[in-house]
Parts: sequence; C-alpha cells; structure tokens
Amino acid sequence: MGETIQPHEGVYNLTDYLSHYQSFNWDHYHKLEGDEKINAAHQTIDAHVEGGFGDKLALHYINDDHLISYTFQEVKQQIDHYVAVLRSHHVEKGDRVFIFLPKNPACYFAILATIRIGAIAGPLFEGFMGEAVHDRIADCHGQVLITDYELGKRVNQQKLPSLRLTLYQEEIAQLNLPADPYVEWLDPEDSMLIHYTSGSTGKPKGVLHAHRSFVHHKLSGKWVLDIKDSDVYWCTSHPGWVTGSVYGLFAPWLNRATIVIQSGRFKATNWYGIIEKLAVTTWYSAPTAFRMLMAEGELYKNYDLTSLRHILSVGEPLNPEVIYWTYKQLGLRIHDTWWMTETGGHLIVNLPAEIIKPGSMGRPFPGIEVGILNDRGKELPRGEIGQLAIKAPWPGLMKTIWNNQAKYDAYFKYTGWYLSGDLAYQDDEGYVFFQGRDDDMINSAGERIGPFEVESSLIEHPAVAEAGVVGKPDPVRGEIVKAFITLTADYIASDDLIEEIRLHVRGRLAAHAAPREIEVVTELPKTKISGKILRRELKQLELDRLSVG
Ligand code: PRX
Repeated sequence: MGETIQPHEGVYNLTDYLSHYQSFNWDHYHKLEGDEKINAAHQTIDAHVEGGFGDKLALHYINDDHLISYTFQEVKQQIDHYVAVLRSHHVEKGDRVFIFLPKNPACYFAILATIRIGAIAGPLFEGFMGEAVHDRIADCHGQVLITDYELGKRVNQQKLPSLRLTLYQEEIAQLNLPADPYVEWLDPEDSMLIHYTSGSTGKPKGVLHAHRSFVHHKLSGKWVLDIKDSDVYWCTSHPGWVTGSVYGLFAPWLNRATIVIQSGRFKATNWYGIIEKLAVTTWYSAPTAFRMLMAEGELYKNYDLTSLRHILSVGEPLNPEVIYWTYKQLGLRIHDTWWMTETGGHLIVNLPAEIIKPGSMGRPFPGIEVGILNDRGKELPRGEIGQLAIKAPWPGLMKTIWNNQAKYDAYFKYTGWYLSGDLAYQDDEGYVFFQGRDDDMINSAGERIGPFEVESSLIEHPAVAEAGVVGKPDPVRGEIVKAFITLTADYIASDDLIEEIRLHVRGRLAAHAAPREIEVVTELPKTKISGKILRRELKQLELDRLSVG
C-alpha cells in the first residue's frame, strides 16, 4: 500500500471521528417521532427563509458565460410558483411527477415543489432518450411530466396512458398565478423521491426514498461535505442521478450552502474556469472527471484555484495515482465516498479531519456498521474479502423498490444486513477497500449500467440475433460498455452496420449506455441447461486479452 495522507490543519465540522463513531446514535442527533410531521422540501429551503437567511445567496447558475444568481428567498418564490402551477392542476400527495429537464435552476425548483406538495419527484437524466424515459415513467405509472420543448420531443405521450398532464418549463415561466406557500405536512415514512437505477438483471428498478432521508442528507452534508455558511459548493452531477439530487441539491441546501449549477458537458477548461470564476470552495465529482483533468497535465496552472478547500469523489474506484497527483499539484486531498442509490446517503467516507489511505473508500459514517460477509451471511475477519454489507436500517435507506417486493427483499437475504452487491475488505483500523462487483453490473464513468437493458435494446435491431454485454476495463472511464453480438442470417458484419447498431442503442437509451465496442462473433457462450448467455466468460475473455496485450 502507498503512503497515507494526513489531514490539513483547519477547522472542521467533525473532528475526532473515533469517539463520535463510538457514541453516535441517530436518535440523539434527530429523533423522528411517529407522529411528528415533516417535509423535506420545507427543511431544504423554506426553513432558511423563515430563519432569517432569505437574503443569503442560494445558487449560481452558469451557462457558458451567462451567470444568474438567486437568494434563498428568490428560490422559495420560484418554488411557490411551481407549487401554484401543480396545485392548479390538482396534483397531490403520492402522485408521481417526473422532471425531465436539463441541469438548470428550473429542474431544482420543480423537484422541490413536487416534494413540498407531498407528491413523489422522479428526476430524469437529460441524456435519456425515448425508451429510457418511457420505461421509467411506465413502471410507476407516472401521472405528470415536467419538461421543456426540446427534451419533451423525446417522449411519446400516447404510449404512456398513465400520464395525464405534461407541463413545459417555458409555459410555466409565463403563467401568472399567485404564489402558493402551501406545504403538505407528512409522516417521516411518506415517499419523496424515486430514482431509477440498474441492476445486473431486468430493466431499471425504481428506488423509492422517504422524507426521513433528510436527516441523513443534512448530517452527511455537515460532516462529510463539511459545509459552512461561507462555502460555494459545486456537485457536477445531474439531479437525475442520486448524487446530483442528494449531494447536488438536498445536502448542501439543508446546510445552507451557495450551490453552483453548471449546464453543458464536461470540458476541462470550463471546469477549472468555473472554480476560478465562482470561487468554488467545495467540489464533489467523480474519478473519471479527475482522470480527464489529470490527462490535461499542467492546464490547471492557467487558473486561480486557491478558493478550493475540499474535494470529494464518488461513483467508481478512485485510483491512488489521482489522489497523489491532485495532492502534489493542487495541494489538496480527494476524499472518496461510497454509497449507492439504494442507501440514500453516504455510508463509507473519508472525513476532512482524518487520515486518508489512498485506495480505500474510507471508514463507516457514524451510525453505520459495516460487515464483510461470506456467502452464508457470516461476518469475516478483518482483512478478508467478502460481500460488503451494512447493518440495516439507517435514515437514508430506501423504503422499497417500486412494485417489486422480490427485488427489495433480495437486498436483505441475510437477516439484519443490507447487501450492497460490492466486494470489499476492511482493515484493522476500519478502512474499507473496494474490490469489485459481485455481479454483472457495469460501471462506466461512474454511471451504473445494467447489461440486460443494453442487450434488450441491441436485439431490437433487426441485424442482431443475440447479445452479451460486459464492462471492459478502461484507463479513463473505469469500464466501457462492450457488446458481443451474433447476427441474423440476412446480415453481414461491416463497420457501417456496427455503427448503425451502436446508434440504435444510443438513440433509444442514452449515450453512456451505448456500447463503445461491438464485436461480432459466431456464437455466444451459454449455460448448458437454461441456455443463458454467460457474461462472465465474455468478461474473462476481455480480461485475458488485456493481460496478453
Ligand atoms: O459499485 C459501487 C459503485 O457504484 C455503485 C452504486 O452506484 P449508484 O447507485 O449509481 O450510486 C453511485 C453514487 C452514489 C456501488 O455499488 N461505487 C460507488 N461509490 C464508489 C463505488 N465504487 C468504488 N468506490 C466508490 N467510492
């Protein structure tokens, strides 16, 4: 193992991890009584306005050179307007409202307005194409869609019978309705947010979160993101992904940070430019982005990055080289964090006041107990690799998988434990080291991609007879999506055909899900009895090739 990195001297919201870990109890921090009424959206914005912080800057929206800023009071006014629009259409508690918007302030306002009236917000990534949007809305019978003219073109509303109302951002902005301060007061267990995520089998599943999650969001925002009133905080993820909603919206705003919302795609010069221009202090991104910045070498020297004080990473393994590079060049450590859509918040973290062991995702957050289990659900000794599990429950844990009890139950097959599907070991000091997935799920640039969804889309193309999809190791993206296909009788392999097949998936699902490599084979390996395609053999083939090559 490489060298550990000591914390910088500074004033942090959590010091002395070990003693906090030993004495911590979620109930002491924030006990949610059964009859206590809450609303996570109210906590996120309105509470600050009511507390006298209405004039504090809540957000900077940067779109190329164009910058708009809002105070907390102005954000609340926008949410009041969205609430007025939704309530004028009788949208109510429990309704599923999908928000399909680019990364812009309206997307954040729509999510919070939906939650404030007790409806369930389903944010959708702006890169999704028609089929991906359709599958998600259809699965939980979404009733309302908030979109804009451009993205709305991808949705075929005729094919979504549950959808009774589509609202366009451009029209909402023009409506002249009295502001509506309405708040639906709810039980902690009431639903607030649904994020669709991939597994290794089946179509994406709807992970449903409850209002009680805000307790987890707020405390992890305070201790892990280390948010102070003076912070300008930037999370680069779109709210369609759980990182973009929990740590792009809820956690920083619950802690009253000024957040940055940037539109557009990744470009190293833009990113350094945003840090400089907005004096970003705290930055949460993903290893692929850091690797891309590292590949730009000394580009960072053209920018004044002295405002930065805290960097965090999530979503995929963070290579020690990247941590050492950033430490050497920028003088800052990158703090890895581990969690999942299902866990609703940070579980394993590197805290700013603690030692980092590059290669480790960190130690369990206070109130979180890690277990490394063998395949009978028994805890293994420290140092041994096994299934990464967490003692359930905790406040951010999903409340269910929409309409799929069996999928939900599969996470809890060992009584008392939530099973992550990751493999890991824990050292004697409690640091956890990621070792890979225990299933076929693909992680490309931090995006979780289910092979089944890509295979299903591939075989919808007339030229594709069968498909097996795996993650192929890649130095920048961690993994890329690689497809092995057999062709139907009428087709002959050619570069044009392969490109056509790739574009077919890209046009239906999303750019990140489209295979970067497609290889035509005459036969796919299958199990003898059921004839299921053996993805593991295909993956092994790729690994063998890489070790030879
Ligand atoms: O395999 C782990 C990987 O991402 C999975 C969760 O994906 P998703 O639900 O999309 O959530 C991503 C962000 C919360 C995990 O099962 N993963 C997440 N964080 C890390 C990671 N792998 C290695 N290191 C991490 N820090």
